[in-house]
Amino acid sequence: MNTEIKTRVLGNSGISVSPVGLGCMGFSHAYGEPTEKNTAVKMIRKAFDMGYTFFDTAECYTDVNPDGSISYNEELVGDALREVRDRVVIATKMGITFAPGGSVLDSSPAKIRASVESSLKRLGTDYIDLYYQHRIDPKVEPEVVADTMGQLIKEGKIRAWGISETGEEYLRRANAVTPVAAIQNRYSMIARGYEPLFPVLEELNVALVAFSPMGNGFLTGAYNSSSTFAEGVDYRSRMPQYTKEGFEAAQELMSFLSKLGDQKGATTGQLSLAWMLNKKPYIIPIPGSRKEHRILENFDSCQVELSAEEIHQIDELLDRMVIPAYGTKQ
Ligand SMILES: NC(=O)c1ccc[n+]([C@@H]2O[C@H](COP(=O)([O-])OP(=O)(O)OC[C@H]3O[C@@H](n4cnc5c(N)ncnc54)[C@H](OP(=O)(O)O)[C@@H]3O)[C@@H](O)[C@H]2O)c1
Repeated sequence: MNTEIKTRVLGNSGISVSPVGLGCMGFSHAYGEPTEKNTAVKMIRKAFDMGYTFFDTAECYTDVNPDGSISYNEELVGDALREVRDRVVIATKMGITFAPGGSVLDSSPAKIRASVESSLKRLGTDYIDLYYQHRIDPKVEPEVVADTMGQLIKEGKIRAWGISETGEEYLRRANAVTPVAAIQNRYSMIARGYEPLFPVLEELNVALVAFSPMGNGFLTGAYNSSSTFAEGVDYRSRMPQYTKEGFEAAQELMSFLSKLGDQKGATTGQLSLAWMLNKKPYIIPIPGSRKEHRILENFDSCQVELSAEEIHQIDELLDRMVIPAYGTKQ
């Protein structure tokens, strides 16, 4: 890893990670046809060589093979990182099962325990560095989930735990039982709904791992209203930002970023990540890409410096814009 790159810390856990993590989901889930297994494994391993030490997966990132068997994203991550296991931080998640007719949420203690054992097997490791509850299960109190996670920490099966898509009340209640190292919430220039949570994260010393930090790739400027995505297998085919209206609404932002990028020698995608990296020291974006040059480009966003004034200027611009975006309420 480039020694000049400053690592970030996962809240109270003290676990250090590269400032930009690799979201591994897209290799086999949600962004079109899955990448061929060996290629995906090679790419994830190359990311480590570039400087990434933080890798994100989940038990529900799966793909159904033509013979009906299931391929697990966790297996790709485990295979890719086996040789460097002690130098990387692997995050995975439990609590969502995809089923015909919709996803099923289950965070009961029995399910958490069964899931952690299966994930350990698929990852080929005897501990998970950061274990998230992927979605809040309304049937299970946060104290119960936190207590189970606390037991797993004591047993050495996980080093720290986190919650994905949580708000303040649930986080506070869970954190009071077993300190939460990180939350993983949707956060990007076009999805800023969790900014009111920042003071709470600061008070509790919890990191924000930002998922879909480039607005599902939209902020890279690599796509336009003529771009097409495979219906069903590529979720972008039904994301509101990828519509004619979405591109029109974002025009002013994209041309502002493009001009700023010219001054800084950065791409618009890099600026979308640098904006959050420079905003708060506890934000860790985990962009996802299946392409080597983009994985490197995204990592290098941690070298792009933005002043407080530049961040403020971008925020002011975003404040007066309404850009439709997947997963957010406008
Ligand atoms: N906790 C949760 O509920 C949750 C939900 C969603 C995602 N996640 C995690 O967050 C990670 C990242 O989120 P995400 O993949 O949804 O969104 P993202 O990182 O904002 O965008 C990914 C998309 O952007 C494209 N892309 C990436 N870098 C690019 C570049 N430099 N230039 C042009 N296009 C680029 C990728 O295509 P190519 O692959 O073709 O480059 C991919 O389609 C996931 O991998 C997953 O680990 C978590």
